[in-house]
This record gives sequence, C-alpha cells and structure tokens, in this order.
Amino acid sequence: MITPPHVSLAALPTPFQHRPDLGAVLGGKAIWVKRDDLTGYSWGGNKIRTIEYLIGDAEAQGCDTVVLCGGPTSNFTALMAYACAARGLSVFQVSYGNEPEVKPVALAAGEAAGAVLHFTGSSDRSTMEEVAAALADRLRAEGRHPYLVPRGGATVVGALGYAHAASEVRCQLRQCGIHAVTIVMPVGSGGSIAGLLSGFLFAFEEDEEALPLDVDLIGVSVSRPADELRAAIEAKAQACGAGRARLTSVDCRWRLVDGRGAGFNHYDADDAALVDAIMRRSGLLIDTTYNGKALRWLRDQRLSAARPILYWHTGGALAVADWLARPAFPSTPHLETT
Ligand SMILES: Cc1ncc(COP(=O)(O)O)c(C=O)c1O
Repeated sequence: MITPPHVSLAALPTPFQHRPDLGAVLGGKAIWVKRDDLTGYSWGGNKIRTIEYLIGDAEAQGCDTVVLCGGPTSNFTALMAYACAARGLSVFQVSYGNEPEVKPVALAAGEAAGAVLHFTGSSDRSTMEEVAAALADRLRAEGRHPYLVPRGGATVVGALGYAHAASEVRCQLRQCGIHAVTIVMPVGSGGSIAGLLSGFLFAFEEDEEALPLDVDLIGVSVSRPADELRAAIEAKAQACGAGRARLTSVDCRWRLVDGRGAGFNHYDADDAALVDAIMRRSGLLIDTTYNGKALRWLRDQRLSAARPILYWHTGGALAVADWLARPAFPSTPHLETT
C-alpha cells in the first residue's frame, strides 16, 4: 500500500455525536454529527485534514515557500498560514480584489501568521491562480522553492485527507451499529467531498473494514452551480484512489445539490434565523457561508428519519466571529471566499 507523505497536525478521530438538539431545530429528526469543527489545530475545521497532506507533499518536494490562493475570508488560507509558520515554511497569499479597509478575521489571521498578502485588483476570482503562478515563477527566479496551492487546497494530494476521514467515520458508524447512512456536507471547491467519496470507493488503510456499509453521500454546493462542479469532483475522487483496490464492502452513491440560496457568502433572513437558532439551542458554532447553507438545505428536505442522517460539520469558526461582529442585519454581507 502506498503511503503518501503527510504531517500529523489534527487531533483525530474527531467526535461522532448523536444530537437530538440539532435534530429538533431542523424539524424533529435525531441527527448524528461528525465534528470536524473540532479538528484540534488552531480554530479547527475541515481544512486541516487537507493541509496535513499538502504540507507533507511540499516538504517531500523540498519546498521552502508556499504560494496560496484564497479569498479574504478563506478559512483554508488562514489555517494553512499558521500550519506553514509552525513548519518553518514561508507563505505568500494571493487574494482577489483589493486590500479591504477592515480585514475579515481570516485575512487578519493569515497576516498575523506571517503570510505576505497580494491582491489581484480584480473581482474575478480566477485571477488568483494566474497571479499566484506568476508570483511562484518570480520566487523561483530568486532561488526559492515554492509550492503552489489553488483555492481551497483542492488538489488530488489535498483530497487524501478526506479519503482517510472516510475510514475514520466507517469505524465510528460501525461502533454505533449503523450500517446504512445518509451523509450531508457543505461543498465549496469540492476537494473535501472528492476525498471522502474516494475513501468510500477505494481502500486507503491497511486493514480496511470488511463489514458492509450503505452510504448516500450528499454534497450541498454553496458557491458554484452543482452542474459546474460535479465532473471535477468525480475525476478528483478517481485520481485520488488511482492504484488502490476498489472497496467491495461499501455501496456508495453520491450527489451534489445546489444550496447557494441567496448566493455565495450572502444570507437572507431565514439563513440568519436558522444559524441563530442552532447556535442558541445546540451550542454548535454555525457559519452562514458553509454550514448554515447546508443545514438549511437539510432542514428543507425532510429526509426520511428511517435512515440515520450524519451531518458533517466542517467548521467555519472565523466566519462566525465576522458574522457576530456584523453591522445590524440586514446588511450586505462579507466578501467572497474560495
Ligand atoms: C468551513 C468550511 N466548510 C466547508 C468548506 C468547503 O470545503 P471544500 O472547499 O473542500 O469543498 C470550506 C472551504 O473552505 C470551509 O472553510
């Protein structure tokens, strides 16, 4: 079995909880929650699983510098900047637009970790990758060894973090006697769900569990039309599992649904009321950008309670801080992220 390089940063496994309180806010269904908001590195969140493999790859390639792409509210770039600082890697972060007068917490955090910030001056998010590639060329010419990371860390290497998370959750499901489950998670760049899908399709651990499991995996796309993203996720999942044995014990179907609602990083009064109700009644921190949207989709579906539902909480604590400090609702919300 191939073991890709990775550094150990997260506190794993993350908790797997039965949460009737969250179920009550969503309309009565008891629900299970995979607490990837509690990944145990800085403020937690899904991306630290991705970062473990990106940094492992960068170090294995002898890189000394990381060039990151991410919007001003990106949880990923903020967390990556801290993780790189701890590993002695320099960070350059490229964001679209211009430097905001008031920095969102995520941007301020990246800067505090030592990231050198660059702004593309354009509202077009795809400018980030172009500017980052040119910056990496310049750094190379200066004698550095840069590792280039696209938005959300959504590469095949980054997806490995969630491929391993699939084995982790299978073990927890088995311990709770669950053999069929519907998993719901928010999707931005698609890197996390691609990895998870790969981990349900292919064997990533030496001792893969042979007990049968039936999985319905649902991604709620919050930033891009689902039709634009579906094929890329599928391709990444396949590439991530290339060369590995197919898992015969897991029957996994997946779909990507549109959960953009009011638009990426925009929320309406219903979003705000739901997030507020969940936070007050469950103690879970819920951001309006990712988890608020996915949980609203879940509430509106009225999925059958006969089949256990697992909500995959992906974190977003920095955006919660921005949201709580917002000007009085209704307001134009924050900047775009991934
Ligand atoms: C809190 C949170 N949830 C979900 C996501 C979506 O993850 P992905 O970009 O891997 O689809 C992100 C992406 O940055 C995130 O920060």
